[in-house]
Amino acid sequence: MPGPLRRACRVALVAAPLLAIGACTRDTPSVVDAKGAAERHVTVLWWPLLWVGTAVFAFVLVMLVAGIVRGRGRSESEARQQARWGEPFIVIGAVVVTGVILTGFFLFSLKEMRAIAAQGQGAALTIHVTGHDWWWEAAYPNGAVTANEIHIPSGERVRLLLDGADVIHSFWVPQLAPKRDTIPGKTNLLWIEADAPGRFRGQCAEYCGLQHAHMGLWVYAQRPDDFAKWMSDQSRPLTAPAGEAARGMRVFMTSTCVGCHAIRGTPAGGTAGPDLTHVASRDTIAGAFLPNNARVLSDWITDPQDEKPGAVMPPTQLSAADLRALVAFLGSLK
Ligand code: CUA
Repeated sequence: MPGPLRRACRVALVAAPLLAIGACTRDTPSVVDAKGAAERHVTVLWWPLLWVGTAVFAFVLVMLVAGIVRGRGRSESEARQQARWGEPFIVIGAVVVTGVILTGFFLFSLKEMRAIAAQGQGAALTIHVTGHDWWWEAAYPNGAVTANEIHIPSGERVRLLLDGADVIHSFWVPQLAPKRDTIPGKTNLLWIEADAPGRFRGQCAEYCGLQHAHMGLWVYAQRPDDFAKWMSDQSRPLTAPAGEAARGMRVFMTSTCVGCHAIRGTPAGGTAGPDLTHVASRDTIAGAFLPNNARVLSDWITDPQDEKPGAVMPPTQLSAADLRALVAFLGSLK
């Protein structure tokens, strides 16, 4: 191997694990850091899979090295002669051991899958979650609808009905539940539960197009009282705004916004984009990709493609005064 190539390989060997470790921040959820009952069924399966897999890998490596060491200095015909007695032993051993391990894990998986499915039956709250290109919609039984930030009561089992609006996405909140596909025309079921209040990162886990990586979400687990208040607040329709926000509402109602977005309590009833009735109560927009503030909203309305190329939302041409008023209106939608 030439010198520079060898050096590059050495750098890669050191850098790869460091990069992998560096990629893990507090906002990078881990499947083995379970924060709810459903996810614990996954970790119960995950660790034995890792250790048995590691043991098999180590055994194969040891056998490989032993073979290389013992075979040194022998001709091919000598080696063949020697190997003959061991062949049936190796074939039978490998098939039987592999079969036992795989069957064992298959049965183990079935047991955990059954346990996960059974526990969802006692859920008191059902939330209808729909995956869109490239954001998440969550509809609550009292009429509240939100986007990308799903609130649940902590310590309670919640049933999710999962649908896809356009292509197949996959709903995945690694610390709370296994992943599940959202498929157009087929409603999938998943239950989640968070042990304690907290904020949990989620991500679309099925490649769904250009902005798949920016199709994130957050689950906010709140104390049951706080959650009940949140859900009731979110179900309220719009109360007529005043001042610049009132002017912004007129801009909203007379521009292309109404074609795609709903604001309950107004004629705006579009369903292609997120429901904006309480958009100002959210921390993020655009698939939890951007922070929700006046500057970002202003840039986003003017040219969504600049922030998120491929986004379904078209650019909107507005005068500076209209844009300011529109952003003030959206900021008033608490
Ligand atoms: Cu939606 Cu990937």
